[in-house]
Amino acid sequence: MPTIIFNRPDNRSERIDASAGASVMQVATTHGVDEIVAECGGNAMCATCHVYVDEGWVARLTPMSEEEDELLHGVAAERLPNSRLSCQIKITPELDGLVVRLPDRQI
Ligand code: FES
Repeated sequence: MPTIIFNRPDNRSERIDASAGASVMQVATTHGVDEIVAECGGNAMCATCHVYVDEGWVARLTPMSEEEDELLHGVAAERLPNSRLSCQIKITPELDGLVVRLPDRQI
Protein backbone atom coordinates (compact mmCIF):
# COMPACT_ATOMS: atom_id res chain seq x y z
CA MET A 1 0.00 0.00 0.00
CA PRO A 2 1.59 3.31 -1.03
CA THR A 3 2.35 5.78 1.73
CA ILE A 4 2.00 9.51 1.14
CA ILE A 5 3.80 11.98 3.39
CA PHE A 6 2.12 15.30 4.04
CA ASN A 7 4.28 18.07 5.49
CA ARG A 8 2.17 20.71 7.17
CA PRO A 9 2.94 24.46 7.30
CA ASP A 10 3.78 24.15 11.02
CA ASN A 11 6.35 21.45 10.14
CA ARG A 12 4.29 18.56 11.48
CA SER A 13 4.52 15.60 9.17
CA GLU A 14 1.93 12.91 8.59
CA ARG A 15 2.40 9.56 6.85
CA ILE A 16 -0.81 8.12 5.47
CA ASP A 17 -1.33 4.76 3.79
CA ALA A 18 -3.23 5.30 0.57
CA SER A 19 -5.15 3.11 -1.83
CA ALA A 20 -3.89 2.99 -5.38
CA GLY A 21 -6.41 4.68 -7.64
CA ALA A 22 -7.39 7.35 -5.14
CA SER A 23 -6.13 10.89 -5.58
CA VAL A 24 -3.78 12.60 -3.14
CA MET A 25 -6.67 14.99 -2.37
CA GLN A 26 -8.97 12.08 -1.45
CA VAL A 27 -6.34 10.61 0.84
CA ALA A 28 -5.89 13.95 2.58
CA THR A 29 -9.57 14.77 3.04
CA THR A 30 -10.48 11.31 4.30
CA HIS A 31 -7.67 11.39 6.89
CA GLY A 32 -8.22 14.78 8.46
CA VAL A 33 -5.59 16.72 6.57
CA ASP A 34 -7.65 19.86 6.73
CA GLU A 35 -5.16 22.08 4.90
CA ILE A 36 -6.72 20.57 1.77
CA VAL A 37 -10.12 22.17 1.27
CA ALA A 38 -11.17 20.60 -2.06
CA GLU A 39 -14.31 22.67 -2.50
CA CYS A 40 -15.20 21.13 -5.85
CA GLY A 41 -14.72 17.55 -4.71
CA GLY A 42 -11.99 16.78 -7.20
CA ASN A 43 -13.59 18.08 -10.36
CA ALA A 44 -10.70 20.40 -11.24
CA MET A 45 -12.74 23.54 -10.72
CA CYS A 46 -11.68 25.16 -7.44
CA ALA A 47 -7.88 25.06 -6.94
CA THR A 48 -8.31 24.62 -3.17
CA CYS A 49 -6.36 21.36 -3.17
CA HIS A 50 -3.01 22.98 -3.96
CA VAL A 51 0.16 21.20 -2.82
CA TYR A 52 3.90 21.60 -3.35
CA VAL A 53 5.37 18.34 -4.55
CA ASP A 54 8.79 17.46 -3.15
CA GLU A 55 11.39 18.28 -5.81
CA GLY A 56 12.53 14.69 -6.16
CA TRP A 57 9.04 13.58 -7.10
CA VAL A 58 7.97 16.26 -9.57
CA ALA A 59 9.24 14.49 -12.69
CA ARG A 60 7.72 11.19 -11.60
CA LEU A 61 4.17 12.48 -11.71
CA THR A 62 1.89 12.49 -14.71
CA PRO A 63 2.35 15.87 -16.43
CA MET A 64 -0.35 18.41 -15.65
CA SER A 65 -3.15 19.11 -18.08
CA GLU A 66 -3.84 22.55 -19.54
CA GLU A 67 -6.86 22.81 -17.23
CA GLU A 68 -4.75 22.15 -14.14
CA ASP A 69 -2.15 24.65 -15.29
CA GLU A 70 -4.87 27.25 -15.79
CA LEU A 71 -6.36 26.64 -12.35
CA LEU A 72 -2.98 26.90 -10.68
CA HIS A 73 -2.87 30.56 -11.76
CA GLY A 74 -5.64 31.16 -9.23
CA VAL A 75 -4.29 29.46 -6.11
CA ALA A 76 -4.36 31.45 -2.87
CA ALA A 77 -0.79 30.69 -1.78
CA GLU A 78 2.16 31.42 -4.02
CA ARG A 79 2.41 29.22 -7.08
CA LEU A 80 5.83 27.59 -7.35
CA PRO A 81 7.39 25.39 -10.05
CA ASN A 82 6.45 22.32 -7.99
CA SER A 83 2.83 23.35 -7.44
CA ARG A 84 0.17 20.80 -8.35
CA LEU A 85 -3.48 20.23 -7.64
CA SER A 86 -3.68 17.19 -5.40
CA CYS A 87 -6.96 16.03 -6.93
CA GLN A 88 -5.11 15.54 -10.19
CA ILE A 89 -2.43 13.26 -8.72
CA LYS A 90 -3.61 9.69 -8.89
CA ILE A 91 -1.86 7.31 -6.57
CA THR A 92 -0.06 4.36 -8.07
CA PRO A 93 2.25 1.83 -6.40
CA GLU A 94 5.18 3.75 -7.92
CA LEU A 95 4.26 6.78 -5.82
CA ASP A 96 4.98 5.00 -2.56
CA GLY A 97 6.78 7.55 -0.39
CA LEU A 98 5.52 10.61 -2.28
CA VAL A 99 6.14 13.77 -0.26
CA VAL A 100 3.96 16.85 -0.57
CA ARG A 101 4.10 20.10 1.37
CA LEU A 102 0.86 21.85 2.20
CA PRO A 103 0.52 25.60 1.60
CA ASP A 104 -0.50 27.85 4.48
CA ARG A 105 -3.80 28.75 2.84
CA GLN A 106 -6.15 27.54 0.12
CA ILE A 107 -8.65 30.41 0.06
S1 FES B 1 -10.52 19.64 -5.47
FE1 FES B 1 -11.14 21.31 -6.69
S2 FES B 1 -9.53 21.54 -8.08
FE2 FES B 1 -8.88 19.92 -6.83
